[in-house]
Amino acid sequence: MDRQAIIQAEADYVLHTYNRPDIVFSHGEGMYLYDSDGNKYLDFTSGIAVTSLGHSDPEWVTAVSQQAAQLTHVSNLFHSAPQAQLAQKLVENSFADKVFFCNSGAEANEAALKFARKYARSRISTLHSPISKTNIVAFTGGFHGRTMGSLSATYKTQYREPFAPLVPGVTFVPFNDLAAAQAAIDDNTCAVIVEPIQGEGGVNPATAEFLQGLRAACDAHHALLIFDEVQCGLGRTGTLWAYQQYGVTPDVMTLAKPLAGGLPIGAALVTQAVAEVIKPGDHGSTFAAGPLVCAAANVVFDKINQRPFLQSVQENGAYLKHRLQTLELEQIVDVRGQGLLLGVALNQPAAPIMAAARNKGVLILTAGDNVLRLAPPLIVNMAEIDTAVTTIAACLEEVS
Ligand SMILES: Cc1ncc(COP(=O)(O)O)c(C=O)c1O
Repeated sequence: MDRQAIIQAEADYVLHTYNRPDIVFSHGEGMYLYDSDGNKYLDFTSGIAVTSLGHSDPEWVTAVSQQAAQLTHVSNLFHSAPQAQLAQKLVENSFADKVFFCNSGAEANEAALKFARKYARSRISTLHSPISKTNIVAFTGGFHGRTMGSLSATYKTQYREPFAPLVPGVTFVPFNDLAAAQAAIDDNTCAVIVEPIQGEGGVNPATAEFLQGLRAACDAHHALLIFDEVQCGLGRTGTLWAYQQYGVTPDVMTLAKPLAGGLPIGAALVTQAVAEVIKPGDHGSTFAAGPLVCAAANVVFDKINQRPFLQSVQENGAYLKHRLQTLELEQIVDVRGQGLLLGVALNQPAAPIMAAARNKGVLILTAGDNVLRLAPPLIVNMAEIDTAVTTIAACLEEVS
């Protein structure tokens, strides 16, 4: 199929939920993607913060190929080594005591909210209290996914309203407004769900005071604190987990995007207290954490969880941020974020800049109307950063 035929077939047969540019990618290698016409693109998107090792990392390819030849799927009715190994790594390198696996970020948040409901129920029965304890506190700008539960805690009304009624009892509080959050969290709250660094909402980092205050309020009211690290977790911000930079640990942390380097996976990591209320049959998934996807994830985790690797994310992230901050273009009103998850807030729409950069061979993302989002593979180097920044600057000068 040539490029036009592919685009036409998609228009004819694929449900139109995405607007795509007329590009068909054929392959990728490291920091680069190649289209069907042979054009080369520097990838500062990582497939929306997924391909942290870059495209077709040789160790990842070997692990996936070998595992595919050996065993791909057995369902969760049986044990398998790659899943056990991955769970051990996640627990031994985080606050958590147990892991629940699923297939995406939305599913991970869905699991987290279900666990919070069950945990709350167990507390009510212990306390013999008349409270319902089913409410959820979420935040303006938050994005947690498109399934009914995750969507209920996602802020953008245009995502939620066409599908109402959603899960009841969700209150949205201004992000980083601790007093408002304290006022909203009470004995009827079962969970507070927050991204330590909001991705889709505009690359907005939480303040330490905010997350620490949420922790205290959750403790005071026996509510679970859920950190959604689907986008900001696993090395993206320069530490293994974003929460490590805040001096706060959650009760539940959700992961997905980068965990298997491009294969579908999600995870909800929980403390022992949460784990104790979840019983066989409470939740499950046919595909989750099969041997193939976990073999991939084990490679990703082992490579990212190395001090020199994380150090390089910190250094390159700081360099990228510095380069953007010193561009001195009037269109740039703010540069924010951490590590290699950075937002460039503009005084103009971001989408035309993203399109112009793509035409010059650099792929970037937007986050909201006026923010450019940069989330390159974590293997990016300073020369590639220079190329991306120079291209973005040229686009800003041309398209304003
Ligand atoms: C913070 C966050 N949570 C959840 C999700 C949903 O993940 P998925 O698209 O894998 O369902 C996303 C996706 O962008 C996200 O950024």
